[in-house]
Amino acid sequence: KFARLTLDPDFQISRIDKRVYGSFVEHLGRAVYGGVYQPGHGSADEEGFRRDVLDLVRELQVPIVRYPGGNFVSNFYWEDSVGPVSERPRRLELAWRSTETNEVGVNEFARWAKKAGTELMMAVNLGTRGIDAACGLLEYCNHPSGTKYSDLRIAHGVKEPHNIKTWCLGNEMDGPWQVGHKTAREYGRLADETAKALRQIDPTVELVVCGSSNTGMATYPQWEATVLEEAYNSVDYISLHTYYGNRLNDTANFLAYSDDMDHFIRTVISTCDFVKAKKRGKKDIMLSFDEWNVWFHSDAADSDTMGNRPWSVAPHLLEDQYNFEDALLVGLMLITLIKHSDRVRMACLAQLVNVIAPIMTEEDGPAWRQTIYYPYLHASKYGRGVALNTALRSSRHDTREFTDVTDVEAAAVWNDEAEELTVFAVNRDLEDSITLETDLRGFAGYELTEHIVLEHGDFKAVNSAAAETVAPHTVTDRDELDGGLLKSRLAPASWNVIRLK
Ligand code: AHR
Repeated sequence: KFARLTLDPDFQISRIDKRVYGSFVEHLGRAVYGGVYQPGHGSADEEGFRRDVLDLVRELQVPIVRYPGGNFVSNFYWEDSVGPVSERPRRLELAWRSTETNEVGVNEFARWAKKAGTELMMAVNLGTRGIDAACGLLEYCNHPSGTKYSDLRIAHGVKEPHNIKTWCLGNEMDGPWQVGHKTAREYGRLADETAKALRQIDPTVELVVCGSSNTGMATYPQWEATVLEEAYNSVDYISLHTYYGNRLNDTANFLAYSDDMDHFIRTVISTCDFVKAKKRGKKDIMLSFDEWNVWFHSDAADSDTMGNRPWSVAPHLLEDQYNFEDALLVGLMLITLIKHSDRVRMACLAQLVNVIAPIMTEEDGPAWRQTIYYPYLHASKYGRGVALNTALRSSRHDTREFTDVTDVEAAAVWNDEAEELTVFAVNRDLEDSITLETDLRGFAGYELTEHIVLEHGDFKAVNSAAAETVAPHTVTDRDELDGGLLKSRLAPASWNVIRLK
């Protein structure tokens, strides 16, 4: 078994858009209420935001957060979420069969984002509503003053516009579960007209049109082609979503799902380029992988809650407790995103707090880090700069659903400003250590500074508020750098971050 990389500053994929390390907060379960916002909690600040959560979000250096949904957005009445809190209505929230109190809305969340040091990616409701509501919200958020909605914002105490740059045109409109689900042709037309109207209000916005909800959709990938035939010239990005789960309880097979993600990305790029040729387009459509993660642990509990105990406020929903193997797949998915950073310009780990999240909160206790927190932290922190073409060669294996799966997957990022080089590598062989040989002759003078590893003897090990069972550590006896050749021992089933300077 072997793995080899060759790194050279001239072999570049692309400068990475930092927004590829984005995340997502939806009005769902305890993401907002009891997550980012919990007045009365010991760590709450004067506005009710939990400081312990803010600290972890800042530690992750999350560059952008998608908001307010998700499926939630398809029945979102933004006007209910602004103005005096005491006058805001409670609403039936149809996507997750909960009650939305509207205590936190557009302005509160924008303030939270500022405190978290992150940017907003706003979604508009193209399910139950349309062009009119989308235009109203953009005017409210971005127009300086002197019009109905900009003056309403000022009357609500927010003088400066939020200047939100990135806007999603609805959410998963291909899904029959979506309130206001549409055919590709219907949605493509609506997205195109909405995009044109939004650009009249603010020509600087960047617009994301909905692609398929996952590769299993019957309409995939014709959906992408049809939607882009309608909206190619008026949008900038197309969205991709995917969630994986180890439903077969087959770890080797589970760790190959990042190959499915890779294939998904390639297919959407091809589809965009096909439509570009057909329409004699001038620009490329970029990809926004704005929902990705592991999600399956909580499925049964969620059906029970939504089916049998609907309409509660902030119920426990989608509270997947992640184990060690989930962290490995999240690392592999991050590697896949980095490798495609020339076309995937934005991506959102779905989600951020309590709901399929790296950060969990205890109602009367602390915020804590799930296993998946760590690969996300490392990629966000050390994955800024230029993605390098690694020319990876690795021995391979087959799994139940995949063939020719590389034993080692890797990506490399060169932070040219800080003169730092980072290799992210997962050994997905479950039995054996594999030596990763990295040819570094193109980076003369670089020395190893740190080799961080996430490894654990139990694939099902989880973290909790009481114990961080799965946490990274630094190793000092697994690397040898000699004559420009770095040999690194990658433990079986491990996430590795090899840093040089
Ligand atoms: O992230 C949870 C849900 O997954 C989102 O609301 C929806 O867009 C997707 O199906």
